[in-house]
Amino acid sequence: MTAMNNLPPLSLADFFSVCQQRVEMALRAELEGGSGDPDRLLQSMAYATLNGGKRVRPILVYGSALAVGGSLEAGDPAACAVELLHCYSLVHDDLPAMDNDDLRRGRPTLHRAFDQATAILAGDALQSRAFEVLARDGAASPAIRIQMVRILAAAAGVNGMAGGQMLDFAAMGKTLDLAALEAMHRLKTGALISASVALGCLAGGCEDPQRQQALQTYGSLVGLAFQVQDDILDVTADTKTLGKPQGSDQLNNKPTFTSLMGLDNARLHARQLAEQAVAALDGFPEQAGFLRALAGYIVERAH
Ligand code: IPE
Ligand code: IPE
Ligand code: MG
Ligand code: MG
Ligand code: MG
Repeated sequence: MTAMNNLPPLSLADFFSVCQQRVEMALRAELEGGSGDPDRLLQSMAYATLNGGKRVRPILVYGSALAVGGSLEAGDPAACAVELLHCYSLVHDDLPAMDNDDLRRGRPTLHRAFDQATAILAGDALQSRAFEVLARDGAASPAIRIQMVRILAAAAGVNGMAGGQMLDFAAMGKTLDLAALEAMHRLKTGALISASVALGCLAGGCEDPQRQQALQTYGSLVGLAFQVQDDILDVTADTKTLGKPQGSDQLNNKPTFTSLMGLDNARLHARQLAEQAVAALDGFPEQAGFLRALAGYIVERAH
């Protein structure tokens, strides 16, 4: 329960739904492009995006902006941009050349509903749109917008998500040690989650290096914890709940936290990471309550 600016205290569930509605509106504005758009590429981008994702990365942007005393509104462009980038990563992750999955967010994956060429291009165009949204005129100054573009680009590229996906691909059928597995998870998933927290911090107007550093620590810990929980759910959840195929990692012979340390230790590890993330926020005011609660949600979520 946290007071948000002048609004009455919100539960975490209410906060989720406020954030989800905000980012939904921003995403729709980017992708609907007028009624009944005949453009197949735009349609496919909307199919991959306006489809019931949890919107965890946007929620982290908003949570971080609030934690440093900013407004939800200030977080809108970054929230929209991180979700566009994330949706692109899912489209490419599901392709036959990668995880070869047929189900995403409870519906056929984009290459199944459309075709592979469209899925590749939709991913490309979602990624470009993410940067367009960040760079566009808005509330943030040009200098802040450049910093935001740099943060998202770094998180998406060779030292971030794409680099991590390359390691993931190369690791198929291999056993990694814990350090190598952790390094891969930090890049393929952790980088974009950390970037979401960093973008929220910038959007919220934080100029205090100590706060920025604490949020970086928080983002890096919840980013890793998020993928540990994703590995756990691949084993323990069912396809209907997940909205994506349960057992995909095992089928693809991927090293995961559960394959390496066993289910119980993976669960313990995820919880410890979340606790450390909350500890990184020591000294933050009450407005950081949603970020604290989000760390728990990330390792307790059922899908
Ligand atoms: C799934 O992300 C892919 C990973 C990086 C683990 P999410 O679990 O956030 O998926 P959606 O966006 O809710 O569908
Ligand atoms: C995905 O990891 C990481 C991305 C960069 C998309 P996974 O391959 O485990 O994600 P899911 O389980 O398919 O959502
Ligand atoms: Mg994958
Ligand atoms: Mg996958
Ligand atoms: Mg997975």
